[in-house]
Amino acid sequence: MSFTIAIDGPAAAGKGTISKAVAAHFGFAHLDTGLLYRAVGAKTLTGLPAIEAARGLMAEDLENDALRTAEVAQAASKVAAIPEVRAALVDFQRAFARRAGGAVLDGRDIGTVICPEAQVKLFVTASDAVRADRRFAELAAKGADVTPEGVLQDLQERDARDSQRAAAPLTAAEDAVLIDTTDLSISAAVERAVAIVQKAGPPKGA
Ligand code: C5P
Repeated sequence: MSFTIAIDGPAAAGKGTISKAVAAHFGFAHLDTGLLYRAVGAKTLTGLPAIEAARGLMAEDLENDALRTAEVAQAASKVAAIPEVRAALVDFQRAFARRAGGAVLDGRDIGTVICPEAQVKLFVTASDAVRADRRFAELAAKGADVTPEGVLQDLQERDARDSQRAAAPLTAAEDAVLIDTTDLSISAAVERAVAIVQKAGPPKGA
């Protein structure tokens, strides 16, 4: 039996952390759909046309630490605005969502476009300043050459592009539950998400 949890929101709001923790708590599989767009974006940086890259994407393309850079994030958000790129990635995401045993997918359009029938939809957000602080700390810890101002500008640019595009823009589904993590610790945010999922009655071992 399948049980799908859709978690959307802007960059660095805490979606990834919450998704992984919720998946671990309920024993569900987790797909970070941003990685699909990052992998396509990374390929365009080597000269491959975006649509071709999306249609030829392989599972092993997702296992690459270099996908986490700010440069790849910007490239991802550019290719993500191309409808043919998004279309090429739909089947894989829907199949993942329907897998037996339960699935958590996080991204920008999971509750609105990929899995409008998801049993639980969360929209995770936080203030720009807090999101930029978190992303700066994450990138700086990895030794990236970044400044707090640069990271903030990068996030705002990406959010604007993601929210304003015509194809599957970043927006909360009408029936999504909002979690604002601005003033929440990681454990408090995870607790809130787990409680919301629990209320929806996930079948044991889905
Ligand atoms: O989540 P992450 O920051 O890794 O996503 C990188 C980019 O991929 C986003 O800025 C967005 O443009 C795109 N994306 C998307 N739809 C998703 C997931 C990510 O358009 N479901």
